[in-house]
Amino acid sequence: MILSPSLLSADFSRLADELAALEAAGISWLHLDIMDGAFVPNITFGQPVIKSLRKRSSKLFFDVHLMIEEPARYLESFRDAGADMLVIHAEADRHPQRTLSEIRRLGMKAGLAFNPGTDIASLRWLAPDLDMVLVMSVNPGFSGQKFIPQSFDKIRATRAMLNAAGAGDVLIQVDGGIGLATAPLVAAAGADVLVCGNAVFKADDPRAAIGAVKDAADEARENALARGQWN
Ligand code: DX5
Ligand code: ZN
Repeated sequence: MILSPSLLSADFSRLADELAALEAAGISWLHLDIMDGAFVPNITFGQPVIKSLRKRSSKLFFDVHLMIEEPARYLESFRDAGADMLVIHAEADRHPQRTLSEIRRLGMKAGLAFNPGTDIASLRWLAPDLDMVLVMSVNPGFSGQKFIPQSFDKIRATRAMLNAAGAGDVLIQVDGGIGLATAPLVAAAGADVLVCGNAVFKADDPRAAIGAVKDAADEARENALARGQWN
């Protein structure tokens, strides 16, 4: 199980320190939430911040969640800033197949995100162009929101859809309201990558929180695998 802490919940005045603390805690992925104030009702940061963070860490895998309209306009600039993976929203792009293949052509991993109210039917046709599917378990825009329970069924449906499309190796990421209570359930439903904002950064001891969430998710996943739940 991969844990990808979301910097959205960090203290923006000390990003470099937060990054160093995460690395010291053994994190290998970092989730960067890019919001444009149009696709979602919030504005965060863009390429310059990613570029500065990249200078501080050459090792971390930068998982960049683009909550922006028409993301195809910015692929190259995010690559140049240091993104390893770009995740676009199905709702924000009329030509996702073109954008996803362009992301790969530029040398990055490609991901597709679905809002809670969006059906995943297009996965049947887009699976060959994907490295990861992001199942949003809150409506994007803010950290600290409550997990939407229908997401469990949606994760299971996503896993089934990917397997049916012969794309069992495509990762499933879940983002929004993940913490000690939800992580094991999401892991058992078939998630591979968990995004954590508040559960890590608002904890008294972020390092311990990372370990606890990861252990709980790993155990639940092992149990689910032992039961042959995804066959
Ligand atoms: C929500 C963002 C999330 C958010 C997660 O729009 O995409 O990545 O930061 O924060 P928590 O884990 O607090 O829900
Ligand atoms: Zn996110």
